[in-house]
Amino acid sequence: MHVEVRDLNKHFGTFHAVKNVSFEIEKGHLIGLLGPSGGGKTSILRMLAGLENPDSGQISFHGQVVNDLPPQERGIGFVFQNYALFKHMTVFDNIAFGLKVKKASKAQIKDRVTELVELTGLKGFESRYPHQLSGGQRQRVAFARALAPEPQLLLLDEPFAAIDAKIRQELRSWLRELIERVGITSIFVTHDQDEAIEVADEIMIINQGRVEQKGTPWDIYKEPKTPFVASFIGESTVISSAAELKGFEAAANKNATRALIRPEYIEIGSEHDFSVLSATETGVVRHLHFRGSEWLVEVEVKGHKLITYRSLEKETLQPGQEVRVLVHRAYLFNDDHSWIEENRLKVDPMPIMI
Ligand SMILES: Nc1ncnc2c1ncn2[C@@H]1O[C@H](COP(=O)(O)OP(=O)(O)OP(=O)(O)O)[C@@H](O)[C@H]1O
Ligand SMILES: [Mg+2]
Repeated sequence: MHVEVRDLNKHFGTFHAVKNVSFEIEKGHLIGLLGPSGGGKTSILRMLAGLENPDSGQISFHGQVVNDLPPQERGIGFVFQNYALFKHMTVFDNIAFGLKVKKASKAQIKDRVTELVELTGLKGFESRYPHQLSGGQRQRVAFARALAPEPQLLLLDEPFAAIDAKIRQELRSWLRELIERVGITSIFVTHDQDEAIEVADEIMIINQGRVEQKGTPWDIYKEPKTPFVASFIGESTVISSAAELKGFEAAANKNATRALIRPEYIEIGSEHDFSVLSATETGVVRHLHFRGSEWLVEVEVKGHKLITYRSLEKETLQPGQEVRVLVHRAYLFNDDHSWIEENRLKVDPMPIMI
């Protein structure tokens, strides 16, 4: 279903936890909510589900305002990070729970549970109890249970937080496929940017109760609107002034207050690796982290610690080693906008007009 949220606000006592939050979700889309702890993600989900009342603002499903609808009439499925399965019930009964509440017939329950057990790869586990399942299996039961009453909106609050990295990776692709197959509008909360990037059609970055930015993962990476978003997505370095870097002197005239430099904007090497040496800085390698497929290098330039990657095929660097550092471009921010600035020295000189 199509979801629209307008100017949602929520206070807990005097604390303003959700501030003028507005967004829309297209029917069938999966949107990832990403942001630091305490940002307001769970509070937003709880208001959508009707578990918490907003102080002001409107929530509409299919164009109908639902603010006054009780949770059970909103057509929502909820999956939390801590499974919250009914411990004394079998897998079958856990999945059947919502259908029993809705007073479905025995035959309907059996058909629907059988269908979900297959969909979630739990065939053969129907009569087990939660303690007889692995974390990943339990979480799949939680998904099946949430999907059983055919909700129109699925809210997933860090569903994989308690699961170890390898299984988590598998569950991510599984979830993506499941949601595509079922075609259900979904909101997925995570702390993990890789998870959000991989799973979501769109990402919404929430910080201190506000929506900092919403867009496709690629748009957000490519065009972060605030330094917060830029530093939250991807590994990068934020410095207070780009103007002190060679090739970026012009930034001083544009009142940039901060600059963000992503690892892929930086190249390191020795003198003969660069055709325009005047565009490069001197740097000192501080740390090298082996990443399996490449090195992550921390290099110090004018007191700033910049991060870049280096192919394993290139000569191995040593901590303390002096290198040349070319910063190709930087993301610059001032109070009201952000833009990309290229290193103006790295390009070949303009041809002389005769
Ligand atoms: N029932 C409540 N009473 C008082 N304060 C609350 C309540 N629920 C949430 N808060 C506060 O509101 C803010 C937002 O909380 P919320 O749980 O929405 O954050 P979150 O983004 O989900 O964080 P996390 O990533 O840690 O789960 C926090 O500062 C939290 O302490
Ligand atoms: Mg939360």
